This record gives sequence, structure tokens and C-alpha cells, in this order.
Amino acid sequence: MIEQSAFTVEPWCLRECNLQLDLLAQAESLFALSNGHIGWRGNLDEGEPHALPGSYLNGVYELRPLPYAEAGYGYPESGQTVINVTNGKLIRLLVDDEPFDPRYGQLRAHERELDFRTGLLLRKAEWVSPAGQAIRLTSTRLVSLSQRAVAAICYEVEAVDDPARIVVQSELVANEQLPDPNGDPRVAAALKDPLIPEAHGAYAATADLVHQTQRSGLRVAAAMDHTVEGPEGTRTTSESFPNLGRVTVTTVLHPGQRLRLIKFVAYGWSGERSLPALRDQVQAALTAANHTGWHGLCAEQRDYLSDFWSRADVEVDGDTKIQQAVRFSLFHVLQAGARAEQRAIPAKGLTGPGYDGHCFWDTETFVLPVLSYTVPSAAAHALRWRHSTMPKAAARARQLGLHGVAFPWRTIHGEECSSYWPAGTAAFHINADIADAVIRYVAATGDTDFEAGVGMELLVETARLWCSLGHHDAQGRFRIDGVTGPDEYSAVVDNNVYTNLMAQQNLDAAAALVEKHPDRARELGVNAEESARWRDAARAMTIPFDDLLGIHPQAEGFTRHQEWDFAATSPDQYPLLLHFPYFDLYRKQVVKQADLVLAMHLRGDAFTAAQKARNFAYYERLTVRDSSLSACTQAVVAAEVGHTELAYDYLTEAALMDLKDLENNTRDGLHIASLAGSWLALVAGLGGMRHYRGVLSFAPRLPAGLRKLSFSIYLQNQRLYVDIGQADARYTVSDSRPLRILHHGTPGVIFPHQPLVRPIPPPPHALTDPQQPIGREPLRRRRRRTQE
Ligand code: BGC
Repeated sequence: MIEQSAFTVEPWCLRECNLQLDLLAQAESLFALSNGHIGWRGNLDEGEPHALPGSYLNGVYELRPLPYAEAGYGYPESGQTVINVTNGKLIRLLVDDEPFDPRYGQLRAHERELDFRTGLLLRKAEWVSPAGQAIRLTSTRLVSLSQRAVAAICYEVEAVDDPARIVVQSELVANEQLPDPNGDPRVAAALKDPLIPEAHGAYAATADLVHQTQRSGLRVAAAMDHTVEGPEGTRTTSESFPNLGRVTVTTVLHPGQRLRLIKFVAYGWSGERSLPALRDQVQAALTAANHTGWHGLCAEQRDYLSDFWSRADVEVDGDTKIQQAVRFSLFHVLQAGARAEQRAIPAKGLTGPGYDGHCFWDTETFVLPVLSYTVPSAAAHALRWRHSTMPKAAARARQLGLHGVAFPWRTIHGEECSSYWPAGTAAFHINADIADAVIRYVAATGDTDFEAGVGMELLVETARLWCSLGHHDAQGRFRIDGVTGPDEYSAVVDNNVYTNLMAQQNLDAAAALVEKHPDRARELGVNAEESARWRDAARAMTIPFDDLLGIHPQAEGFTRHQEWDFAATSPDQYPLLLHFPYFDLYRKQVVKQADLVLAMHLRGDAFTAAQKARNFAYYERLTVRDSSLSACTQAVVAAEVGHTELAYDYLTEAALMDLKDLENNTRDGLHIASLAGSWLALVAGLGGMRHYRGVLSFAPRLPAGLRKLSFSIYLQNQRLYVDIGQADARYTVSDSRPLRILHHGTPGVIFPHQPLVRPIPPPPHALTDPQQPIGREPLRRRRRRTQE
């Protein structure tokens, strides 16, 4: 876990005041810069020391075989792994022949700051070489949000006491040596030397490298150019080799003199374009960046972010740590999705190789709800990417003997890459999650073109899947058997409530669109009989209920299983998946992550208030949160059923997942869905926002420790500003249309220039705090705050 003191608590930045070598790996993820297309880990400019060097391009992967001891029909044969592409961040510095390396000499000062408003990673250092030569260094790095193919660094060195001979080597390095992976199954399969050199060149202050991947057949180009300002006599040379481009600047600095190097880097990749075309593409991007100049790029970055924050900022008054964490979260969620432009948003964004760089349901269920109400164009892009993979999902469905589409559980390029089918292919709920994201995006934006086009195809083909995956039993009930829900400690179960409710929504929404767009329906080959079958299946959907316990079992038979022996499980045996066989987890009542509880958030309209309270208490006792995708959902439902302080605890856990490295794997990349989850915990949790069937509702209530919570959401291009205090909530709209909402169940209209102010009712009668499994209680925000 990262100690409190490692970073300062500030509302608009993440600052590390000393270089902590034992936190290098985590800091590389936390300080990662990305625009959704390019990702640079926060490695030190000089390259070493490093924990995990990482430069990624969204969609660039290599294939690797998936070996099986016992193969079976339909098992995916090939996996996809994100690769570390050409490193354009490297700037090595030699001071009188000695490399600047903080492990040697004396590091007098070292500070890094990620500024959420400027989008810049700043670094300041003062170092005395082992020979006693002192230098000052500042570097500022950006991955451009406005120029998608571009990243840049401003690197400045100053001599302090005596004249210093300075050599700066600015490099592009392909096939960097990577440390061995640590054996955690969730880490990427590191591929050795994945890039085959194709071309290289250097002249003046530029160099470029072009490579191809061996099996996936992708071509990757990287190019760099520099502007150099130094004292007279400063010399610049360049050279290139198959895996290395190098621009070297040499000078002698007298005390107070500076060498300033601005490095522009451009990346491009393609599975189709020729070598000359790709080389031209990166050269063009480089020329444009050069034309904009360093200051221009910084100004564009600031403008982009100021627009973002004006739409998406969440203000938390009374808890600066959560304030910082939610802005950190939103910044990284934006980075992951901003310019992905019809590519996936991976579970780790482009911050590390964790989960092989794969995209899961994390995107549609956790990330897109945030983007749909704040940066809807990014949500649309992500859904268009899913849509572009439909032919592969259709082929997969056919292979499985099903109709419609079966989207992959994890993938980069669209093919199923999960070799563990009980928690992969069997997690069919991803199809309904994609449908849910389409429904939400359309409700949030009113984008009817999208609805009738991409959206309708996604809904129709996923509805077809459900109809072929489920069946009507002798009593006429529609059953979906043999699937895995969100909780991966149960697998291949019958009638998982979450899956069935999400499928029900999917089927109903598809049938409604068929009625709304009959011409499109004909084009997609849907007739009245087919959509009637969808309606029938939805109406007859099996939703198991345990009458004895008065709760919903998360799947049929679940509540009959033996309970996990939590008392006999020691804290170091979590996550359970690394210490116990799946077969044992599967036959016990133990929940990895919110499953039934997630159903109560996303399909809250299908439960009564009393059912929600009982279900929540039941599943709290069993949920161990071995996935980062749980705390935010528990926060949302805890808030709804009246456990406001517990919601605050879970919000804290979701928001600090990476800042505190709670899952002990932040080194492999950030948990983008949990970061998005901190917005969900605030907006859907403490703000109580729901948007079911076109009805927007809020049920705000703050924990005692917060004075105020404010946020904006965009609804069909109209900005709604919600400002919640302890006693009342104030709703304001930005344009001339009135907006109808529900506040704690009571209808209200927000008129332009006339905020709607409503009192916050007291929480439902005193509830006893639910129990969590022993040792798995969330971080207690209420108690800890007094110690801060
Ligand atoms: C969770 C999945 C999630 C994946 C990637 C797993 O631990 O159980 O629900 O999609 O991580 O974040």
C-alpha cells in the first residue's frame, strides 16, 4: 500500500516531493500520460532507474498462442497482447561523462507534479554527480490531447557551481529490454523483441524508425525532431540504427547557463498502410507539432482541459483527499478515452501492460456512464469501436452455435482472447452491458442518428443472442442457463439475476427500436414475429427469489451453497483467486465483486426498496472485493438503501484504489473502471442519480464529513448543474429548456434562470450497519479522517 506521505494532498495535482525508488513502479502508472491513442508511462526521462518502461499505441498488439493441456471445441487459439512500442521518452543526460542516475551521487531535490488543469507532467531535480558536479534539471512532458499523434518534452539543464560538460542523448528505442513479469496471472505476457525493423533514418535533429510486428502484421512508425537552445558552441548530431534513433547535443555550461531541448515525437501505426505512407504520416504530424511549437502545444492542452473541466468537474467540499482523488480519476478516465477514436478503452487505459492491454465490460459498464454524461463524443467512439468488431462477434456466435453476436470477454482487436472460458466466454452478460451502454448513451444525448444506425444494430444482434442462448421451460418461463455473471467466484450458473435483468432490458429495448424505426428493422431482417419473441422472452424472464431468506439469490441455487469460511481465511490469502482453487470458490457462497448488488444499481427499477435493503445486507456479508470493480457499486447501493457513511467508505476505496495501491498491482497500470467508479460513487451514490427509461432522478444525501458536493451532467446538450449541501439540493439548467426530474421520488421542474431547490429528507429509519467478511471491511473514511 502507498503511504499517505508519498504524495501531497492538493485539489488540482498529484505531487511527489521526493523520488522514492520503492514506489517507482506505481508512480510510473500514476504519472502516465495518454490521449487514448498514445500512452507513455511516467518513466524517468533518462530511462533508468525504471520499474517497467512502457510506451503504448492503442490497438497495437502482437498475437501469441494460447496453449491448452486439454483443448476443447471453441477455445480461442490465439491471444492478443499489448506491446511496448518504440520509446520516444528517452533523454539520457551525461554530466562530465557521468550519467545522471539518482542511484549514484547525491540527489539534492526531486519533485514531480501531474497537473490536472494543464495536462503537463513537471519534474524538477537537483543532482550532484559522484565527481561533485552539481546540475539543475527541469523537464515538462505532454501527450497531446489536441494533436493525437504527438507527444513532446521540454528538457532543461543548468550548471550550478562549476562549468559542466553536458551531453544529452535524445532517443527513440525499439525492443527495449523489459523486466521479467512477476508471475501474477493478471499481468501481460511480455513478448521479447516484438518489433521487426523495417526502416530507419536520421538527419539534422531528427530521426525515425519503422517496425512491423511479426504475427499481427502491424506497422509502427515513430519519429522525433528537436529544437535546441544552448550557449555558443552547442553541437547537435544525429544517427540511426535498426532499433535506435539518436540525436546528441553537446555543450559546456557555465554556472547559470542553460541547455534547453524541445523534443517533438510523432507516432503512427497501421495494418494496411505502406511503409512510405506511414513514414510520411508521422513526418507530417511532426511538422504540424513543430509548427504549433512547444508553447502552442501547451496552450492547446490547457484549452482542451479547461473545456473538459468546465463540463466534468466534481467539487467535493470538506474532504480534500477525495477532491484530489476524483479529479485524478477523471483526468485519467479522460486520458483513456479522449482520442481513442474508434479503438477500445482498455481496462488499464494506456498506463501499463496489465491484463495484456485488453478491453473488458469495464468500458461499457463503468467508464461509459461517466463519458456519456460528460464527454459523449468519446462514449460514441467507444461504442463505434464495439460496432466495428461485430463481424467477429457474429462469427464467434456461429462458432458457439448461437445467433446474433457474442462479443468477446477480453480483446484488443475483437476476437475472444480469454483462454479460461468459465470466466470468459461464459460471461455473456457483456453483450447486455454493451446494449445498456447504447441505451444510456442515447438517453443522455438524444443522438437519433446513432440510435437508428450503430445503436440499433448492436441492440438487435445482442437481442438475437439472448433469444438463442435462453429457452422457455415447460412453465413458459424464459431461462438463461450455464452463464457466468459479474461475480467471478461463481461460474456457469443458471439464471444469474444480473444477466437476466440486463438481457431483459436488452430484449425490450431492441423490440422498442424495431417499432420506432421499422425501415431499419426491415434492413436488419427483423420481422414482427421476431420482435414479438424478444418481448415474450423479456416478459417471461426468470428472476429467482429465495422465499425463505426473503432475498434474491444471485443465481439459482446460490443461497443453498455452503458459506465460505471467512474466519479461517487470513488477510494474506486475498485475493482468494491466487490462493484457492476455483472449484472450491465456485461451490461456496463467496462473492468476488458486486453482482446482485450491481443489478440493483443498473436495474434498480426491478427491485422494491425493501428488497434492495435486504439484498444489500445479505451480499455485504459475502463480498470480499477481490476486484476493483466492486467498491464503487457497493457505494452506490449503500447510499440508496440509507448507509450514507458506508457509501463514503466505499467511495474512498474506489477513489484511492491506485493512489494508495489498494490491490497491490497499480504497477501494472491504473484501474480505469474503478477510477470512473469514483465518479459513479459520488454522482450515482451520494447524488443518487438514476436515469431509467428516460426519467432522470436524484436522491442526494451527504455523509456528515462533507459540506458540499457539486457536479454537472449533460443531458441532450443541456447542462444540468447539481449542488448538494447537507440540508438541500439545488438544480440549475443552462439553456432555455425546462427539465423535469425526480428529487427523492418527488417530481420537479427546473426552469431556466430559476434553480429548483429541494430539502433533503432524513435517511430511512436507523439502519444497523451491515457486516462485511471479517478482515474485508472497507477503509473507514469517517474514523481515519480525524487522524489526517
Ligand atoms: C474482474 C472483471 C474485470 C477484470 C478487468 C477482473 O478481476 O473480475 O470483472 O472485467 O478484472 O478489470
